[in-house]
Amino acid sequence: MLEIRQGDITRLNVDAIVNAANNSLLGGGGVDGAIHRAAGPQLLAACRPLGGCNTGDAKITPGFSLPARWVIHTVGPIWRGGKQGEAQLLENCYRNSLQLALRHDVKSIAFPAISTGVYGYPKSEAASIALKIMMEYESQFDTIIACCHSDDDLAVYNHARRLASAAEK
Ligand code: APR
Repeated sequence: MLEIRQGDITRLNVDAIVNAANNSLLGGGGVDGAIHRAAGPQLLAACRPLGGCNTGDAKITPGFSLPARWVIHTVGPIWRGGKQGEAQLLENCYRNSLQLALRHDVKSIAFPAISTGVYGYPKSEAASIALKIMMEYESQFDTIIACCHSDDDLAVYNHARRLASAAEK
Protein backbone atom coordinates (compact mmCIF):
# COMPACT_ATOMS: atom_id res chain seq x y z
CA MET A 1 0.00 0.00 0.00
CA LEU A 2 1.31 3.49 -0.82
CA GLU A 3 0.49 6.09 1.80
CA ILE A 4 1.06 9.86 1.79
CA ARG A 5 1.28 11.14 5.35
CA GLN A 6 2.32 14.34 7.11
CA GLY A 7 4.62 14.02 10.08
CA ASP A 8 8.07 13.56 11.53
CA ILE A 9 9.77 10.57 9.89
CA THR A 10 11.86 9.91 13.02
CA ARG A 11 8.72 8.92 14.90
CA LEU A 12 7.38 6.39 12.40
CA ASN A 13 7.26 2.79 13.60
CA VAL A 14 8.25 1.17 10.29
CA ASP A 15 10.97 -1.36 9.39
CA ALA A 16 13.08 1.31 7.66
CA ILE A 17 13.18 5.07 7.27
CA VAL A 18 15.16 6.70 4.49
CA ASN A 19 17.57 9.52 5.27
CA ALA A 20 18.26 12.35 2.82
CA ALA A 21 21.97 12.43 3.59
CA ASN A 22 25.02 14.03 1.98
CA ASN A 23 27.98 12.34 0.34
CA SER A 24 29.98 12.23 3.59
CA LEU A 25 27.23 10.34 5.51
CA LEU A 26 28.48 12.24 8.56
CA GLY A 27 25.22 14.01 9.36
CA GLY A 28 23.92 17.46 8.59
CA GLY A 29 20.81 19.56 8.97
CA GLY A 30 17.24 18.95 7.83
CA VAL A 31 15.93 15.41 8.02
CA ASP A 32 19.54 14.13 8.26
CA GLY A 33 20.00 16.10 11.47
CA ALA A 34 16.64 15.01 12.85
CA ILE A 35 17.38 11.34 12.20
CA HIS A 36 20.82 11.50 13.79
CA ARG A 37 19.44 13.31 16.84
CA ALA A 38 16.68 10.72 17.28
CA ALA A 39 18.89 7.69 16.57
CA GLY A 40 21.67 8.82 18.89
CA PRO A 41 25.45 8.91 18.47
CA GLN A 42 25.70 5.23 17.52
CA LEU A 43 24.26 6.16 14.11
CA LEU A 44 27.21 8.41 13.26
CA ALA A 45 29.58 5.72 14.57
CA ALA A 46 27.91 3.20 12.23
CA CYS A 47 28.13 5.62 9.28
CA ARG A 48 31.82 6.47 9.66
CA PRO A 49 33.21 3.15 8.33
CA LEU A 50 30.85 3.21 5.31
CA GLY A 51 33.18 5.55 3.43
CA GLY A 52 30.49 7.98 2.30
CA CYS A 53 27.83 7.46 -0.37
CA ASN A 54 27.68 8.52 -4.01
CA THR A 55 24.75 10.63 -5.16
CA GLY A 56 21.91 8.29 -6.12
CA ASP A 57 23.31 5.37 -4.14
CA ALA A 58 21.96 3.99 -0.84
CA LYS A 59 23.61 2.41 2.21
CA ILE A 60 21.98 0.85 5.28
CA THR A 61 22.64 1.00 9.02
CA PRO A 62 20.67 -0.03 12.12
CA GLY A 63 18.25 2.56 13.47
CA PHE A 64 19.56 2.38 17.07
CA SER A 65 17.28 4.58 19.26
CA LEU A 66 14.78 5.19 16.44
CA PRO A 67 11.52 3.19 16.36
CA ALA A 68 12.63 2.04 12.88
CA ARG A 69 14.90 -1.00 12.75
CA TRP A 70 16.92 0.33 9.81
CA VAL A 71 18.01 3.64 8.35
CA ILE A 72 18.65 3.64 4.62
CA HIS A 73 20.90 6.58 3.80
CA THR A 74 20.67 7.94 0.27
CA VAL A 75 22.13 11.09 -1.25
CA GLY A 76 19.91 13.13 -3.51
CA PRO A 77 21.10 15.39 -6.32
CA ILE A 78 21.61 19.09 -5.72
CA TRP A 79 19.26 20.95 -8.09
CA ARG A 80 21.34 22.74 -10.73
CA GLY A 81 18.61 23.74 -13.15
CA GLY A 82 17.56 20.29 -14.36
CA LYS A 83 20.11 19.67 -17.12
CA GLN A 84 22.74 17.84 -15.05
CA GLY A 85 20.95 14.50 -14.80
CA GLU A 86 19.16 15.44 -11.57
CA ALA A 87 15.95 13.57 -12.44
CA GLN A 88 17.78 10.29 -13.11
CA LEU A 89 19.84 10.66 -9.93
CA LEU A 90 16.70 11.29 -7.87
CA GLU A 91 15.03 8.22 -9.41
CA ASN A 92 18.16 6.24 -8.48
CA CYS A 93 17.79 7.32 -4.84
CA TYR A 94 14.29 5.86 -4.63
CA ARG A 95 15.08 2.71 -6.67
CA ASN A 96 18.34 1.92 -4.86
CA SER A 97 16.75 2.52 -1.44
CA LEU A 98 13.82 0.19 -2.26
CA GLN A 99 16.10 -2.50 -3.71
CA LEU A 100 18.33 -2.33 -0.63
CA ALA A 101 15.22 -2.55 1.57
CA LEU A 102 14.08 -5.70 -0.26
CA ARG A 103 17.48 -7.30 0.38
CA HIS A 104 16.90 -6.75 4.13
CA ASP A 105 13.35 -8.16 4.19
CA VAL A 106 11.94 -4.70 4.91
CA LYS A 107 8.13 -4.71 4.59
CA SER A 108 7.37 -1.14 5.65
CA ILE A 109 9.43 1.88 4.62
CA ALA A 110 9.08 5.66 4.86
CA PHE A 111 10.72 8.30 2.66
CA PRO A 112 11.20 12.03 3.19
CA ALA A 113 10.94 14.32 0.16
CA ILE A 114 14.55 13.76 -0.89
CA SER A 115 16.46 16.78 -2.29
CA THR A 116 13.55 19.23 -1.88
CA GLY A 117 15.01 21.06 1.10
CA VAL A 118 18.61 22.24 1.22
CA TYR A 119 19.26 20.66 -2.19
CA GLY A 120 16.61 22.82 -3.81
CA TYR A 121 14.87 20.30 -6.06
CA PRO A 122 11.49 21.67 -7.20
CA LYS A 123 8.93 19.97 -4.95
CA SER A 124 6.35 19.06 -7.59
CA GLU A 125 8.81 17.44 -9.99
CA ALA A 126 10.49 15.61 -7.12
CA ALA A 127 7.14 14.32 -5.82
CA SER A 128 6.21 12.99 -9.29
CA ILE A 129 9.50 11.10 -9.50
CA ALA A 130 9.14 9.74 -5.96
CA LEU A 131 5.58 8.52 -6.51
CA LYS A 132 6.41 6.97 -9.90
CA ILE A 133 9.09 4.76 -8.35
CA MET A 134 7.09 4.02 -5.18
CA MET A 135 4.16 2.87 -7.35
CA GLU A 136 6.55 0.60 -9.31
CA TYR A 137 7.57 -1.17 -6.07
CA GLU A 138 4.25 -0.89 -4.19
CA SER A 139 3.33 -4.57 -4.63
CA GLN A 140 6.60 -5.75 -3.06
CA PHE A 141 6.00 -4.03 0.29
CA ASP A 142 3.20 -3.99 2.85
CA THR A 143 3.53 -0.22 3.20
CA ILE A 144 5.48 2.52 1.49
CA ILE A 145 4.99 5.91 3.15
CA ALA A 146 5.78 9.28 1.61
CA CYS A 147 6.34 11.23 4.83
CA CYS A 148 5.74 14.94 4.19
CA HIS A 149 7.06 17.31 6.82
CA SER A 150 4.91 20.34 6.06
CA ASP A 151 1.30 20.69 4.98
CA ASP A 152 2.60 22.37 1.81
CA ASP A 153 4.60 19.23 1.00
CA LEU A 154 1.52 17.12 1.75
CA ALA A 155 -0.54 19.16 -0.73
CA VAL A 156 2.19 18.81 -3.39
CA TYR A 157 2.30 15.03 -2.94
CA ASN A 158 -1.48 14.63 -2.98
CA HIS A 159 -1.68 16.71 -6.15
CA ALA A 160 1.11 14.70 -7.79
CA ARG A 161 -0.64 11.47 -6.86
CA ARG A 162 -3.91 12.64 -8.42
CA LEU A 163 -2.02 13.46 -11.63
CA ALA A 164 -0.30 10.06 -11.60
CA SER A 165 -3.61 8.23 -11.05
CA ALA A 166 -5.31 10.21 -13.83
CA ALA A 167 -2.43 9.39 -16.17
CA GLU A 168 -2.82 5.66 -15.38
CA LYS A 169 -6.47 5.65 -16.53
N1 APR B 1 10.60 14.27 8.94
C1 APR B 1 10.25 14.23 7.63
N2 APR B 1 10.71 15.08 6.71
C2 APR B 1 11.57 16.04 7.14
C3 APR B 1 11.99 16.15 8.49
C4 APR B 1 11.46 15.21 9.40
N3 APR B 1 11.80 15.23 10.70
N4 APR B 1 12.85 17.22 8.58
C5 APR B 1 12.94 17.75 7.35
N5 APR B 1 12.17 17.05 6.48
C6 APR B 1 11.95 17.28 5.05
C7 APR B 1 12.16 18.67 4.54
O1 APR B 1 11.04 19.49 4.85
C8 APR B 1 12.26 18.39 3.04
O2 APR B 1 10.96 18.26 2.50
O3 APR B 1 12.89 16.50 4.34
C9 APR B 1 12.94 17.00 3.00
C10 APR B 1 14.38 17.01 2.55
O4 APR B 1 15.00 18.22 2.99
P1 APR B 1 16.50 18.20 3.58
O5 APR B 1 16.50 17.52 4.89
O6 APR B 1 17.01 19.62 3.51
O7 APR B 1 17.33 17.26 2.58
P2 APR B 1 17.87 17.57 1.11
O8 APR B 1 17.13 18.66 0.42
O9 APR B 1 17.94 16.22 0.45
O10 APR B 1 19.35 18.11 1.38
C11 APR B 1 20.30 17.20 1.91
O11 APR B 1 20.78 18.67 3.72
O12 APR B 1 20.57 18.15 5.91
C12 APR B 1 21.47 18.24 4.89
O13 APR B 1 23.09 16.57 5.42
C13 APR B 1 22.04 16.90 4.54
O14 APR B 1 23.69 17.86 3.14
C14 APR B 1 22.48 17.15 3.14
C15 APR B 1 21.37 18.03 2.60
